[in-house]
Amino acid sequence: MSNILINPTSGSMGVEIHNVDLSKELSDSLFSEIREAFIEHGLIFFRDQELTPDDHLRFAKRWGEININRFFAKVEGYDQIAEVRKDADQKINIGGAWHTDHSYDQVPAMGSILLAKETPKIGGDTLFANMYRAYETLSDGMKKTLESMKACHSSRHVFGAHTGYSEASNQRIGNPELATQDAIHPVIITHPESKRKALYVNPEFTVNFEGWTVEESKPLLDYLTEHTTQQENTTRFQWEPGSIAFWDNRCTWHFALNDYPGETRLMHRITVEGSALS
Ligand code: SIN
Repeated sequence: MSNILINPTSGSMGVEIHNVDLSKELSDSLFSEIREAFIEHGLIFFRDQELTPDDHLRFAKRWGEININRFFAKVEGYDQIAEVRKDADQKINIGGAWHTDHSYDQVPAMGSILLAKETPKIGGDTLFANMYRAYETLSDGMKKTLESMKACHSSRHVFGAHTGYSEASNQRIGNPELATQDAIHPVIITHPESKRKALYVNPEFTVNFEGWTVEESKPLLDYLTEHTTQQENTTRFQWEPGSIAFWDNRCTWHFALNDYPGETRLMHRITVEGSALS
């Protein structure tokens, strides 16, 4: 056994893992301890990691294939690392709404490993929500109704042409012509590894329930967002350069706060491929 410490960071979700240096190759046993924590908690944090892009990639590759995001700017020389940057003169940020990454893909990404490179003096925290608890705290009647439903997720209205995202993000979001993905997923999924049930819709990418219009879907989607984002179901992570958050897209949402006008925030994100959801 290693000497890592795994400490919860809130009553709702998330653990911080101490005494590990991710710039070094991890032994199989240390990696399995970290993996176990990731599957159990769905959200793990590390602090004070001095990682080069190659170190970041080496750690990410232990978890699976890398998914190259088609819309985000890349770190120079590293196509597999997305640059999540907000410049001092920029108004909007990337990820400033509740969502889970890549739900618009037929096979959504498993998780994202976000490394802080430059953080504002104050602000720029990320909120997370626990989608197991969101499911578990629904009434039996609502669970039963949602159990048989599917929903359509899309990238078009977020990353497509005419959304203004590219201009507002100083061209850090691009390729609007590639925003053609729509995907249907069950509203309640069984996590492929933990085997727990989780609510799998999100306000950013879920457009409508299958067989329902957008207008009919909106009130229920709004209700599920309100239900999910109750304080006791969420947590907040304060970044410093060298902090890492690694979230499981199958059982979490996240929201990057945009509360640091006039300052720069720069993160490197690597996204790991997932598997079809059922
Ligand atoms: C994202 O949505 O991937 C970005 C999250 C963040 O920058 O905190």
